[in-house]
Amino acid sequence: MSNTHIAEPLPLISRKAQGLKGRIRVPGDKSMSHRALMFGAVAIGETTIKGLLEAEDVINTAKAMTALGAKAERGADNVWRVQGVGIAGLRSPDQPLDFGNSGTGVRLAMGLMATTPLTARCIGDASLSKRPMGRVTVPLSQFGTTFEASEGNRLPLTLHGAKNPVPVTYTLPVASAQVKSAVLLAALNTPGKTSVIEPTPTRDHTERMLKGFGAAITVEQREDGRHITVEGQHELTAQAIDVPGDPSSAAFPMVAALITEGSDIVIENIMLNPTRTGLIDTLVEMGGDIVIENRRLAGGEEVGDLHVRSSRLHGIRVPASRAPSMIDEYPILSVAASFADGTTRMEGLEELRVKESDRLAAVEAGLQANGVPTSSGRDWLEVQGGGAPGGGKVTTHMDHRIAMSFLVMGLASRIYTSVDDSRFIATSFPDFTGLLNGMGGRIGPPDAK
Ligand code: S3P
Repeated sequence: MSNTHIAEPLPLISRKAQGLKGRIRVPGDKSMSHRALMFGAVAIGETTIKGLLEAEDVINTAKAMTALGAKAERGADNVWRVQGVGIAGLRSPDQPLDFGNSGTGVRLAMGLMATTPLTARCIGDASLSKRPMGRVTVPLSQFGTTFEASEGNRLPLTLHGAKNPVPVTYTLPVASAQVKSAVLLAALNTPGKTSVIEPTPTRDHTERMLKGFGAAITVEQREDGRHITVEGQHELTAQAIDVPGDPSSAAFPMVAALITEGSDIVIENIMLNPTRTGLIDTLVEMGGDIVIENRRLAGGEEVGDLHVRSSRLHGIRVPASRAPSMIDEYPILSVAASFADGTTRMEGLEELRVKESDRLAAVEAGLQANGVPTSSGRDWLEVQGGGAPGGGKVTTHMDHRIAMSFLVMGLASRIYTSVDDSRFIATSFPDFTGLLNGMGGRIGPPDAK
């Protein structure tokens, strides 16, 4: 269950596959799962959540909400139930809140707690403890919240919620949905109007879901960007949430099918919010045969089934403007690019440096280890296609997406690929290996034939 607590690394090898076939579902969307638990925690009444992602990152959020006084539990019917305490009802936890590997978990929770007079210590694993928290402590301090952080504004940190919060107007200095969400959540228990100005649009699940919970929230497109305004101290009403499949998880079987000859798969019930579909647009532009079937609306989000067949891809330039809509997908896009004809250039990648690992460096090292020529700069990466010979051992740096990307590469590489540690896949996609092997993949421990 809790793979990241296994003491020893779990290496895996991925071998050439004959063609992937089948209809699959991937687990629920991670962004929506964190938010459903957190918003449910501060609503009035019982929120029910179907399709919640039951992976370590989200389970840590559920435990944190319980420690803050809002019980979050899975029922025998697999539906999660959250007993909300109201926007001012969270209380100081007895123990430190452990967010494990999850930047979204800790940053959104800091926003949620920031304007209630409680004290909470926030901790995380070695990867999360290296990541910058100043991007949320700076705007949250403007509400009156105080922090005792570790050096460089990092975890572990102790948060003291503001007793008399004041509203804030904040222009996002980085294109980050986590920062935007932290400020909007702090606004819920703040009198008056708080506004976030977002020059570059990022995923908008917080805005959509808060509206569903009955928050007084407005979104206005102006010349300098999207202005999102929350009028605080209005209670939220518990909701029934149905979480569709995560497009960032679907990305792995999708690319696996494109690059593995003879593949034909359908990935059902995937969320197609336009702030999340940059990878699909990019792969189609590269010549990928991806057809969206059965488009429909579910729980306020567009969803559909992705029909994917193996395709001959060609290299393209992926502009910086697309980065926010596919920020988590560059590792797997880089794998697709290594099988394309010609060169793929990706720009606007500076945020990749502060993810679960320095993803730009980790991807480039993994590509080179497997014989794929690359070049890079501070915020760009070029991948020369033509196929990945394979044979390299990839260092995953506690990063689930690096591990999954290079295991996908092995399914189509000439030799095989291996990763030093697959434990962190459990943070977002616990059955990744089983699901790919069920379609014809050949991923297993290094000594397996
Ligand atoms: C997320 C926002 C993104 C993304 C992360 C999930 C969210 O992070 O990388 O996996 O749910 O808000 P940033 O806000 O740091 O870009």
